[in-house]
Amino acid sequence: MSMNIAIDGPAGAGKSTIAKSLARKLGFVYVDTGAMYRAMACYFLQNGIAAEDEQSVSGACGEAVVTIAYENGEQQVFLNGENVSGLIRTEEVSHTTSKISVYPAVRKQLVELQQKLASDTDVIMDGRDIGTCVLPNAQVKIFLTASSAVRAKRRYDELLARGESCELNEIEQDIIERDERDMSREVSPLKQADDAVFVDTSYMSVEQVVETLLSIYEEKCCK
Ligand code: DC
Repeated sequence: MSMNIAIDGPAGAGKSTIAKSLARKLGFVYVDTGAMYRAMACYFLQNGIAAEDEQSVSGACGEAVVTIAYENGEQQVFLNGENVSGLIRTEEVSHTTSKISVYPAVRKQLVELQQKLASDTDVIMDGRDIGTCVLPNAQVKIFLTASSAVRAKRRYDELLARGESCELNEIEQDIIERDERDMSREVSPLKQADDAVFVDTSYMSVEQVVETLLSIYEEKCCK
C-alpha cells in the first residue's frame, strides 16, 4: 500500500514550498493539485469560455485533458499535451481557477486523476480538499495556514522578485475573497479534516515548518 501525506490550506500558506522540501527528504512524489485546476482554467481562458458560465464550463471540461509528469524532480503540468507550467501562475489564471474549481464536473475529473496517482505511489499531495475528500485515508493529514496579511506579503515579495508590479492591499483583498470562495463553496470546501494536524506558519521559518511536519510524520508512521 502506498503512503499518502495530505496537506491542505489556503493560498499562500506555504504548502508547495513545504511539501516539495518534505517530499525530497522522504523520497516521496510531490503532487500539486492546484496546478491541475490552474491548467483546466487555462483551457477556458484560451477558448473564451466564461468562468461564470457553469453549463459551458461543465460541458467543455472533458475536452481539457490535464496530465502531469516530472522533469528533474519538478512537477510539470500539461494541457492537451502542451506544457503549461509557465502559463498557470498569473493573477488572471488564479482568479479564473478559483471560479471554475467550484463546479462539480471540474472537480470530479481532477479528483479521479489525483486518486489514481496516489493509489500506487508514495505522495505528498497539497490542495484544499485532499484530507477531507481526495485521500480520506491518508496516513498523515496537515492543515497549514497563516494570517492573510502574512500570506499577502509573501505573494507580494514573490511577484516583486519576478519583476511584476503589484499593490499589497489589492493582493490581500484578493486573498481574502479567494479564501471566502474556497471555504464557502458547496462542493469540497476548504476545511480542516477532523484528523488533520493544524499548523500556523505565520511566524515560522520554512525550516521550522518542515521540521514540525517531519516530526508529525515520524510520530504517526514510524512508531
Ligand atoms: O493552490 P493554488 O493557489 O495553486 O490553487 C489554485 C486554485 O485552485 C484555488 O482557488 C483553489 C483551487 N483548488 C481547489 O479548489 N482544490 C484543490 N485541491 C487545489 C486547488
